[in-house]
Amino acid sequence: MIAPRRVEPAPGPLDVEVRVPGSKSITNRALLLGALAVGESTLEGALFASDTRALAAILRTAGVGIGADETERRFEITGAGGPFPGGGGALWAELSGTTARFVLPVLALSPGTWTLDGAPPLRARPLGDLVSPLRALGAEVEWLAHEGHLPVRVGGRGLPGGRIEVSGEVSSQFLSGLLMAGPLFSEGLELVVTGRLVSRPYVDMTVALMSRFGIEVTLGSRTTSAGDILSWSVPQGPYRAAHLTVEPDASAASYMWGAAAVCGGRVRVGGLGPDSLQGDVRFVDVLERMGARVVRTPGGTEVVVDAPLSGVDVDMSDISDTVQTLAAVAAFAVGPTRIRGVGFIRHKETDRIAAVVAELGRCGIGAEETADGLVVHPGSPVRATVSTYDDHRMAMSLSLVGLGGVGIDIADPDCVSKTFPDFFETLEALTMCEPARTVTIDGPAGSGKSTVARALADSLGAEYLDTGAMYRALTWGVLQAGVDPADSESVARVARHLDVEVSDRVTVDGRDVTEEIRGPEVTAAVSAVAAVPEVRKLMREMQRRWAERVRSCVVEGRDMGTVVFPEAGVKIYLTAPPEVRARRRAAQTGETDLEAVLADIERRDAADSGRRDSPLRPADDAIIYDTGDKTVATIVKELTEIARRAGAGRPSSSEGRNV
Ligand code: DC
Repeated sequence: MIAPRRVEPAPGPLDVEVRVPGSKSITNRALLLGALAVGESTLEGALFASDTRALAAILRTAGVGIGADETERRFEITGAGGPFPGGGGALWAELSGTTARFVLPVLALSPGTWTLDGAPPLRARPLGDLVSPLRALGAEVEWLAHEGHLPVRVGGRGLPGGRIEVSGEVSSQFLSGLLMAGPLFSEGLELVVTGRLVSRPYVDMTVALMSRFGIEVTLGSRTTSAGDILSWSVPQGPYRAAHLTVEPDASAASYMWGAAAVCGGRVRVGGLGPDSLQGDVRFVDVLERMGARVVRTPGGTEVVVDAPLSGVDVDMSDISDTVQTLAAVAAFAVGPTRIRGVGFIRHKETDRIAAVVAELGRCGIGAEETADGLVVHPGSPVRATVSTYDDHRMAMSLSLVGLGGVGIDIADPDCVSKTFPDFFETLEALTMCEPARTVTIDGPAGSGKSTVARALADSLGAEYLDTGAMYRALTWGVLQAGVDPADSESVARVARHLDVEVSDRVTVDGRDVTEEIRGPEVTAAVSAVAAVPEVRKLMREMQRRWAERVRSCVVEGRDMGTVVFPEAGVKIYLTAPPEVRARRRAAQTGETDLEAVLADIERRDAADSGRRDSPLRPADDAIIYDTGDKTVATIVKELTEIARRAGAGRPSSSEGRNV
């Protein structure tokens, strides 16, 4: 059993552009269509995850040539130019519903005896409404364990096809599977949908992709007293090979847009525009109704949230894979959210309605099941360990509850590998304290760093870290332990065991040393302690960990821009003439011998600049700023402008970073 995955709360609003993996739905349709086509097809930007690997493996077993380059995210398919040529065999669909439903109709037309099976959660999912029309068309399909479920045995052979009724109420995948097999029937196929059709956009996607592979499907619609009756006519004929670039997965993108909804700020998903083949891009329409601002361009879709969203009453039957995402977002809205029209998602990887209601409840969020959906009542989530029911979408959507709230622990997190193997890494990258929000201030003693950095942090609404105080605190501890500051081994040993905390006050092992660390003993010894490589390593790690926890920060020291935060978006190096620095330092410490102060400053600067590890010097991309003849107010005003232009501080809609 794998340990639960922690998702920490986001430190603040987001401001990122993110890429998500290729669409599962497009990848699996195109893999199958390429396998049936005449010639060599390629899929670029394809999804490599367990659902697509399952189909690729089945196609290989069934005799189709499938080359895969995972690094390049490319599949190369040598099409069979008709049904599967393998002559029969045992096929394993793992957990993949699309794989089982897309392959089964083709097996019925591929000479040989085939068995098709999958892991227990897939066995539990219904197949009856796919097999009934196939049998009516003359296919030989036998249930091997339980009626209506995998495993099945299929006796494949040529079939004439014709007109057949299909239920649209359980899964659009049945219709998609039959449509794609349609051209293999010697007389083609006419599919008439009975009942309401769920997830219609997925059927439109199937038809659009069949067209890319050379088969044009005709859609018919008849109005009757019982409502509109939809039918699709598929001609007999060969598919032609195609070269396709797979769009990013819109269902996966819903978690990224959802992250903006629960954390505030801005998230843009690249590569997914309004003309996407995937219905789930319309998830952003729901967020828009709740009060988000949505910017749609051909190159991407951006969600901006700068005020709490309102609850919504929405039919999600066309975008049902995003129901759980919305349920998580709804926990943070103002007013309840009612989701309708999705009773059929009780037959997905799990009973998604019951599962999401139960797990939201565990997080302290009131939710109740309805006949065709659920109602979510917003609240303040508590930290909990939640179950994921072998359902990738449970894991990903509940992560949003943690991200926008107080954190969460996701049990069996590996289930995300079904469609989004890097999900947790992507989520972490989304919220990490990032370069454009880190301002570094370095410079020699007395250059005005502390005063300026503290005031600049206030002015930018950012956190402030005085790393000099960290070295000073450590030096105090070293002196307290009676260790010679020049004895680097002993210094390193002391450093490993001291607990230094720097905020408004400075403590060492819990003792407040804020004033003591400014005394002459510490000042005289600090450069020697700060030159010890192991000390610097410990400090670097602490400083980076601290910065990861805050949303934006101003960090002050000697090596902030060069070593600790080399990616920082704004780097400032302060200078001032030596006499000015000496005067400032004397005013601070109350010393009267200016020359002695100057000598001490110069000694310390020489030591800090001359040391091997992380010497004091401006970063190549730092702005050198002379504070000598300026007031603090002027300095802070000018630096605030510089930092804001470079994107530091509060998020804006035009800047951000890429994940
Ligand atoms: O900024 P300050 O005078 O409080 O710094 C005290 C000493 O700590 C300084 O002489 C050098 C050292 N230091 C360092 O080596 N690296 C930093 N990032 C900050 C301070």
